[in-house]
Amino acid sequence: MRILVAGGAGYIGSHTIVELYTKGHTVVCVDNLYNAKLSAIKNVEKIVKKQIPFYKVDCCDKKKLETVFKKEKFDAVIMFQGYKAVGESVKIPIKYYRNNLDSALTIIELMDKYNVHNIMFSSSATVYGKNAKSPIKETDDALRLNDITNPYGETKAMIEKILMDKAAADSKFKAVILRYFNPVGAHESALIGEDPNGIPNNLMPYIAKVATGKLPYLNVYGNDYKTKDGTGVRDYIHVVDLAKGHVAALKCYKSKKQNLFVYNLGTGNGTSVLDLVKAYEKANKLKVKYKIVGRRAGDVDKLYCKPTKANKELGWMAKLDIESMCESSYNFENKK
Ligand code: UFG
Repeated sequence: MRILVAGGAGYIGSHTIVELYTKGHTVVCVDNLYNAKLSAIKNVEKIVKKQIPFYKVDCCDKKKLETVFKKEKFDAVIMFQGYKAVGESVKIPIKYYRNNLDSALTIIELMDKYNVHNIMFSSSATVYGKNAKSPIKETDDALRLNDITNPYGETKAMIEKILMDKAAADSKFKAVILRYFNPVGAHESALIGEDPNGIPNNLMPYIAKVATGKLPYLNVYGNDYKTKDGTGVRDYIHVVDLAKGHVAALKCYKSKKQNLFVYNLGTGNGTSVLDLVKAYEKANKLKVKYKIVGRRAGDVDKLYCKPTKANKELGWMAKLDIESMCESSYNFENKK
């Protein structure tokens, strides 16, 4: 297939483009480079040994995005574009709602106009809300705005709802919603990886900075959770496995039976903060200094999924282990 990848220069988008090419698909990439660098696309080109058509376009800018729809032909759109920092979204919610909803609506309207019917959306486990009981299944209650703890997560739930309403109204429109757990790690080439601006909010990129001496120590947010060692438990998934999940999900577009698909993409394994620190030390033969500090607002004790639906229906399963997540994270951070 030929696929328009919106936000393709970002962390998950860039890894997905690599896996799409590996399986013989081609891509047109649009990105406004707000939180990504063109060098990521250049590095993807080195990995796949192909030139990738790239447009520096903000997906909220309908006129500019329409020039891409006019010029290029594609069979599907994957939406990775959007702001994604949980804490920031609490501080500047209107910017999050405007950008995330506007870009999604603009893409869907243009798809209608140019007869593109297949869409895939980067959603998040955050749509299950703070009361979800792990392991989380797709049939568990989701999209309850009162349970979602931040505007970023609310935009994910709202866009899911928009896609569900559109799919109900238009049988030609085929929507695949992928709910990611905690993507970490980097491509084995160390050419692409997670490269947040400033001090990282997320655990793995923070550990990578400590491991490479760029930050003095890790703050472990709380050791009094109801978990085996008291620290938060999450479902870390290697970004390359996650990217492969998108490629596997393209088969949904062949379905004649349904036009809306929802999948959890995770490993199903829960790993604590201290487990991850130990795994990082072991995989890279180094020490990661840390201090136990107070809990971070909005965090829950455990969040991991039951990935069996994607296993059965997509024939996809996360294969890479924590060691390879830690190793690739370090290699990428070291090479930067
Ligand atoms: N943590 C620390 N120290 C840090 C950063 C994180 O101890 O410096 C802990 C957190 O308290 C938590 C765990 O590490 O227990 C994971 O935290 P992350 O910030 O890496 O990830 P979250 O699970 O909080 O959030 C991620 C994504 C969100 C998404 C959510 C879905 O960042 O986009 O998963 O569940 F919404």
